Amino acid sequence: MSALFIVGAGQMGRVIADLCRALGHPVAGFIDDAKPLGEIVDGIAVMGRTTRLEDPSGVAGYRFALAIGNNHARHRLGTTIRLNGGQLPPLIHPASVVSPSVTVGSGATINAFATVLTGASIGDDVLIDPQVLVGNDTIVGDGVYLAPACRITSRVTLRQHCFIGVAAAVLPGLTVGAGAILGAGSVLIGDLPDNRLAIGNPARAIADANLDDHSSYPASPRPTAPRS
Ligand SMILES: CC(C)(COP(=O)(O)OP(=O)(O)OC[C@H]1O[C@@H](n2cnc3c(N)ncnc32)[C@H](O)[C@@H]1OP(=O)(O)O)[C@@H](O)C(=O)NCCC(=O)NCCS
Repeated sequence: MSALFIVGAGQMGRVIADLCRALGHPVAGFIDDAKPLGEIVDGIAVMGRTTRLEDPSGVAGYRFALAIGNNHARHRLGTTIRLNGGQLPPLIHPASVVSPSVTVGSGATINAFATVLTGASIGDDVLIDPQVLVGNDTIVGDGVYLAPACRITSRVTLRQHCFIGVAAAVLPGLTVGAGAILGAGSVLIGDLPDNRLAIGNPARAIADANLDDHSSYPASPRPTAPRS
């Protein structure tokens, strides 16, 4: 088995390191742009910068896991790794329940006590946190982030890069637009357009989401985001 590097050595990196341990994947090191090279994080050394991922010689033949909260940045780095010949094995926690009929994309992680039901599809570089429910025949687009204990019911479409906050719920058959945000604990009862932020029960769109590679995450819009 080739060495596995975790991209991102922050709090999510430590969580993904635990997921790797639960799966018996030895971790060779972290790739991180903020921490000093050589720093030890939960017993694992920071061994490189993300510039390494742009060079096929530093990527081809290696395995990677993505531990970056920003949906755009995570999906961009995952795409770079794939284009340069690296592998991003889906990481599915042994204490999750995932129907055998589910398809799971490269770079996707499904953490402990998550449940993914019949016929759902999980895109590339998706993060599914503990205790999330994904209902039957729901489509989760590339680079989506599902925060802990959110409830995505059946036949929902979550377009790429959208963010569903902790303990939020999406009713059956709805669509959440690309880059949209559903706030913590909110209950979505109608479609949410691309790049809109909705909160409350029932959830109302109150602002543009305006997230990009440099936004802080999970899910705070940039300070410049226009509010209506
Ligand atoms: C929706 C969210 C992104 C808004 O962030 P923000 O733009 O910084 O919002 P603010 O904190 O400035 O709040 C703006 C207003 O919305 C309200 N609000 C914020 N989040 C809310 C929520 N989830 N539900 C209901 N109202 C909410 C605030 O009370 C405030 O109301 P006010 O203007 O009447 O005082 C954020 O509150 C949120 O829910 N983030 C998700 C966090 C999460 O799930 N993290 C996962 C951790 S793994």
